[in-house]
Order: sequence, then structure tokens, then C-alpha cells
Amino acid sequence: MNDAGAPLVSVRWRDRGLDGIPELLDQTVLPQTVVYREMPDLATLRQAIIDLVVRGAPAIGIAAAYGLARHCLVAAARLPEASPGEALEPAVAAAIASLGDARPTAVNLRWALTHLRTCFDHHVGLLTARESAARLLLEAKRIHAEDAQCCRQIARHGAALLPRTAGILTICNTGALATGGIGTALGCIRQAHQDGATGTIFACETRPLLQGARLTVFECQRLGLPVALCTDGMAGCLMAQGRVGAVIAGADRIAANGDTANKIGTYQLAVLARHHGLPCYIAAPYSTFDRSLPDGGAITLEERPADEVRGYRGVPAAPADCPVVNPAFDVTPASLITALITERGVIRPPTPAAIAELLADDHPQIPAV
Ligand code: MRU
Repeated sequence: MNDAGAPLVSVRWRDRGLDGIPELLDQTVLPQTVVYREMPDLATLRQAIIDLVVRGAPAIGIAAAYGLARHCLVAAARLPEASPGEALEPAVAAAIASLGDARPTAVNLRWALTHLRTCFDHHVGLLTARESAARLLLEAKRIHAEDAQCCRQIARHGAALLPRTAGILTICNTGALATGGIGTALGCIRQAHQDGATGTIFACETRPLLQGARLTVFECQRLGLPVALCTDGMAGCLMAQGRVGAVIAGADRIAANGDTANKIGTYQLAVLARHHGLPCYIAAPYSTFDRSLPDGGAITLEERPADEVRGYRGVPAAPADCPVVNPAFDVTPASLITALITERGVIRPPTPAAIAELLADDHPQIPAV
């Protein structure tokens, strides 16, 4: 299906009578091609997450939630109509086992699956298998809608912090493509522009997979935002020239002390920002916090295939057999982060106590049947 011209929605659920199916906007072929891909089963969705058809921590979590719901709807339809909710247990477990480790750094993936598991456990004794599957779909939709709401609130808090005339430097893609709403860091930039103006938005290209060049520039241009593409290595030069007023990025996982894992290159931007006396902000919803980890040293950093660095989209650049390192993420210590911007407010500076206080009640309520 070709959806050129449609609004950018990274994950969507298409109702189809008794069941329904998740569809992902294929981010591997953007911006040249705008196409949605159906995710009929767990194996297809798992591979799509690994291949970055869907990417960005919140969007991955939403996709996984829909994937689990779809798997349960299909399983329930094969059972006798009056089967109890317990009969869905193998389907729930299979979905979590299949999707849970598709990408190890973005905690939103595990968070969303754990949340659906809790929802299932909560209702299982009260519903039939079909009702239970329908309930899981409802919860996946709720997670999606809640993320959109978080994005709006993050944007409001973050926009107030951003400079109005100086440039804003960002990395990777943290917009609509990466979330269920307008985005986190890019949502803040978008809101700041709407509230008045922003200087140039410098989008780091984000080697090796170019989420900045392909996705952030694409989103900014569609929104009419004043974007300029730069390579990752230009950030220090732009700061030294006085063209940057702030750095803002997203997060894949934030430890209890505020250390933040995000796209590779974020750490060096934070170091550079500190050197140049610039604020470095991280914007993320509560679902990106992992308070079970005391600090960033405990965060698993995904290592991706070497060929992603040796070339681009199958076109070789480096010698075919050269050794490569390819961590997809790095950890920025909390001490280099000026503030964490969440939907609940701004944590400035990030400290374990301030994080614990703001996120004290960070478990979404599961409504009764
Ligand atoms: O490898 P990706 O493209 O999934 O990495 C995404 C990022 O690093 C984003 O900054 C992060 O997930 C936050 S998205 C709101």
C-alpha cells in the first residue's frame, strides 16, 4: 500500500471486523518512499523491530503492544468461543518471548509488554479468551494514546526552555516517527517554533543509519521548520562558531540517577555542550525511565551489524572485511545533562532524589473490566 502524502504516523492499528492488524510506516525506506507494512505475526514484527522498520523507543513499545494484542486476538479466534481467559496464557507468553529482546536498549519495549502482561493477569479470571484479547487491544490503544498525550506535555515543558533565536542542535529522530505523538525532543522544538520562533535546527545526520538526515530533516521540512542538516562531526565547530544555543535529544533508557542511553553520538554532544557552556536537555516520557538500574553502567548497549558501518544500504564504503565497532547507543552521565524534560515536569538538575520524587507513581492504572 502506498500512502504518500498521508500524515506521519509511525504505528497504526487497522481494524478488520473481528480481528485487526498493526501497520508500520517503513522507516528504512524514508524519505524516498512512504509505505506502510502489515505485521501479521510475531516473527514479522520481531524482524521489523530489529531492522528498524519501526524505531524510536516509544514507537517500538507501541508496536510491540499491538503485536501482542494481534497475536492474542488470532489465538483467541481459534479457541472455542467460551474458552476462559487462561487459555490465552501461551499466546501472551509467546509474544513476550518473541518481541521482548528484539532491541535491548529501548526500555519502552519491555515496559509495554510488561504492562500488557499485568493487564492480562489482572483480568484473566474475569473474562473469556476472546474478551481478554479484546481487552489487550484496548490497552495497546490506550498506551498509544497516552504516549501522544505525554508528547504534548513534554513539548510544552521543553519549549519553554529552548532559545528563540540561537540554533538548536539535535541528533537521531525523536519526532512523530519515533513516538505515538508529536515526538519528545523534536516535539519540544516544534512547540517552541509554534510558540514564537526558533533559530536554525541543526539535525546531526546520525551515522551510520542516518535517522537525522533521512527522518528528522524530512519531518522538519514537512512541518516548515528551519532545519539544516550537518554531519555528526560538525557539532563542535558549530558550537565554537556560536551558532548553537542548546542541545536537545531523546532517550532510550534513563537510569535511576539520570544517566541516559540514547543514540550513539549523544554523549559527545553533551561533552561539547558542557565545554561551550551550553545547556544539554534530554526529553522523554516516564516509560523511558528504568529505575531498577542504579546508573548508566548497567544499561545494555545494543551492538549492531558491522556492515551498517562499512557502507550504506548495501553500497560498500570501507574495505569489505575491515573490523568495525557499532554500538547503536551511548550513555550520557547525568552530570552532563542540564535537565530531563518529562510529561510531569522538568527535573533540573537530574538527581536520584528528584527523579524518584517526580516518578513516584509511574505505573499506569489498569481500568476495571
Ligand atoms: O536506533 P533508533 O533509531 O531506534 O534510536 C532512536 C533514538 O536513539 C531516539 O533518540 C530515542 O529512541 C528516543 S525517540 C523519542
